[in-house]
Amino acid sequence: MLSLQRPLLVTCLHLLLLLPWSHSRILRHTNGFHYQDLSNGNSNGNGKDEIYFNGIRLHVESPQHSVSATKGSNVTLLCHYHYEPELTTPRRTRVRWFWLPAYTNTTSPETFARESKVMVAMGGRHRSYGSFKGRVRLRRSAPGDMSLVINELQLNDTGRYRCEVIDGLEDESVTMKLELTGVVFPYYSHEGRYHFNFFDAQQACQDQDATLATFEQLFAEWEDGLDWCNAGWLADGTVQYPIRDSRVVCGGKDVAPGVRSYGHRHKILHQYDAFCFTASIKGTVYYLKHPTKLNFTEAVQACASKGSQIAKVGQLYAAWKLMGLDCCKAGWLSDRSVRYPITTPRANCGPLEPGVHCFGFPAPSMKFGVYCYEQMI
Ligand SMILES: *[C@@H]1O[C@H](CO)[C@@H](O)[C@H](O)[C@H]1NC(C)=O
Ligand SMILES: *[C@@H]1O[C@H](CO)[C@@H](O)[C@H](O)[C@H]1NC(C)=O
Ligand SMILES: *[C@@H]1O[C@H](CO)[C@@H](O)[C@H](O)[C@H]1NC(C)=O
Ligand SMILES: *[C@@H]1O[C@H](CO)[C@@H](O)[C@H](O)[C@H]1NC(C)=O
Repeated sequence: MLSLQRPLLVTCLHLLLLLPWSHSRILRHTNGFHYQDLSNGNSNGNGKDEIYFNGIRLHVESPQHSVSATKGSNVTLLCHYHYEPELTTPRRTRVRWFWLPAYTNTTSPETFARESKVMVAMGGRHRSYGSFKGRVRLRRSAPGDMSLVINELQLNDTGRYRCEVIDGLEDESVTMKLELTGVVFPYYSHEGRYHFNFFDAQQACQDQDATLATFEQLFAEWEDGLDWCNAGWLADGTVQYPIRDSRVVCGGKDVAPGVRSYGHRHKILHQYDAFCFTASIKGTVYYLKHPTKLNFTEAVQACASKGSQIAKVGQLYAAWKLMGLDCCKAGWLSDRSVRYPITTPRANCGPLEPGVHCFGFPAPSMKFGVYCYEQMI
């Protein structure tokens, strides 16, 4: 199917160069600004305004460049500032945390303008914004500690975070990347291949307890072995597919392996599959022990009668990849597909490579086993 479409080739390296964190400003932890003979306006009580800032420099630092966390967990993004040489009197500083979502369209040069505020703090006052409202705080475990604690990490919290310290005269900042440990899986409609426009794809992933994958997540999965010969939407509105073994039917034999891109497609008019991303789950997925095989309706009821729910595709992938679920029995899932997870390939268990293998979307009257999901309380 792909060979007809002549995909536009974009090598991974080129794409990586377009990522926002290769922006030169990000790599700079301090701009080298030196305060010279400037009064900060503080009076020391004896009527004499001291000049504190002769050659004093503000440093903002983080030991982290990249942080990996699991969905639902609490994560701390480290950020610390100090002056050199040390100050004898504390200065009034303002701290701002910004976020650039991982799904931002990074082909635009205005990347910095697209950052949104996470939190602003000054003295004891602070304010959080957007989807971070009520979920973030500054750690303040020591003087100068401006680390950001995010509670209940969500799938779409990934991206680049920037900690900025302003002391009235100059600002310094440091950035880090937040990633979620998870898995990317290709997903297509029960109506067949290439039936999702961008918004359908977004919804389809959400229905399976996932989000559209970012390029970085797909690239990481490609490095981990994902080879998929159908193009799918990514979160930034591009359409791509990961190929490890070049072959004629997948865009050509002479084309180098890599994540291949059709670039940005029309979000409403163009239809493809989806690449979804899901992170670790808070419960367990299991193959239901049941005396007989079940049709789809019976499968849904059988899980419910155990106090569980029929598992979603994202949950099965997370259990396979992150918890090592291995079961050679095909079972219904909530989208009416039938799949089974294999971590240790063996004879009579389908393809000789690990993966979640799929029987497609059989008629709901057909009989299989079922995978259930039990939420942890
Ligand atoms: C995250 O922090 C909140 C509030 O501090 C706490 O109630 C919750 O138990 C923490 N969650 C985890 C997974 O540690
Ligand atoms: C991303 O930005 C580029 C350049 O500004 C633009 O051409 C493209 O249409 C944008 N794509 C999406 C999906 O918004
Ligand atoms: C992120 O995900 C949460 C939970 O699924 C949702 O409520 C929120 O609207 C999403 N935010 C964005 C920016 O997509
Ligand atoms: C599944 O079997 C039950 C009888 O056990 C039947 O009532 C139901 O209609 C069947 N569902 C489907 C989708 O075939």
